[in-house]
Amino acid sequence: MPDHDAEHIISELHAASLASLEQATTLDALEAVRVEALGRKGKLAEVSKSFGKLAPEERARVGKLLNTVKQDLEMRLEKRQDALASVARDARLESEWIDLTAPAPGVRPGSLHPITQVQRELEDLFVSLGFAIMDGPEVETEHYNFDALNIPADHPARDAQDTFWLKDGRLLRTHTSPVQLRALEKFGPPLKMIAPGRVFRNEEVDASHEHTFYQLEGMMVDRDVSVAHLLYFMKTLLSAIFHRDVTVRLRPGFFPFVEPGFELDIQCLICGGKGCPVCKHSGWVELLPCGLVNPAVLRHGGVDPEQWSGFAFGLGLTRLAMMRYGVDDIRLFAGGDLRFLRQF
Ligand code: DAH
Repeated sequence: MPDHDAEHIISELHAASLASLEQATTLDALEAVRVEALGRKGKLAEVSKSFGKLAPEERARVGKLLNTVKQDLEMRLEKRQDALASVARDARLESEWIDLTAPAPGVRPGSLHPITQVQRELEDLFVSLGFAIMDGPEVETEHYNFDALNIPADHPARDAQDTFWLKDGRLLRTHTSPVQLRALEKFGPPLKMIAPGRVFRNEEVDASHEHTFYQLEGMMVDRDVSVAHLLYFMKTLLSAIFHRDVTVRLRPGFFPFVEPGFELDIQCLICGGKGCPVCKHSGWVELLPCGLVNPAVLRHGGVDPEQWSGFAFGLGLTRLAMMRYGVDDIRLFAGGDLRFLRQF
């Protein structure tokens, strides 16, 4: 290969590489140009292989040219690479730009669950009447949930409160009434307390029954507490709850832990007494079972029934919330549908 041929080829390669270098608009494309020109198997490497055939002085000249071209290409590639990298960086900065001074979209205010609202309102009412607010375990012993409330194992009242049993013999409480005994044991009389909380039943779920719902237990034990006291507090309670006239009826009701026992029903506020699924088409809703504390229960709580007497009630909080807000399906409360919850 004559030397001017070699020099010619090198100059052409130089020019061609510079042209493709200018055309490369991405770092990847640029790398391809570098590999093609300067790589181990690149064009310049190929040319230098043919050096062996050149005369020594020609080889020196061509070699020098080759080096100059190599250095020039390396230098330009590096420059171009810097330029492309900074363009890429700018593009990324632009796309990831956030305006930290922009006003925040704002917190969307939530609201308390309707049952919580009703519960808190009643807590305020009873605190104002001198009642303490108490809490009891949701996992109860058979003793507190049944036996000490005068419901022995063979009593038919147990069938009405089928529950979920744990392997260790404890159970999910079927009502808030066990807190009556815990309160008596812990504080003794005189005592005025309420105990709102979650209770459980092994129930078929429908529009008016849930396996999990809320009650509010109340109890007052003092000297000479009578049905008159009970009625006074129940009336105060109902007018505070409904802020309007509600029709109520009192009928005898049987609960082993009260004697006498009553059912305080209110006329269904969903249908106005005409009959609907919530009131089981009777026009009335059982809302407030109550009575005078059975002497047996006082005794279980370590209280002498000769000295003390009391009343108790078990308000269905969930049912109350249904009546209050006109909710016709109990399943909506735990359904997690925000469209429902946002209404309160
Ligand atoms: N614990 C009863 C239930 O869940 C309700 C009840 C009835 C509570 C009468 C009371 C009461 O305190 O006196 O069915």
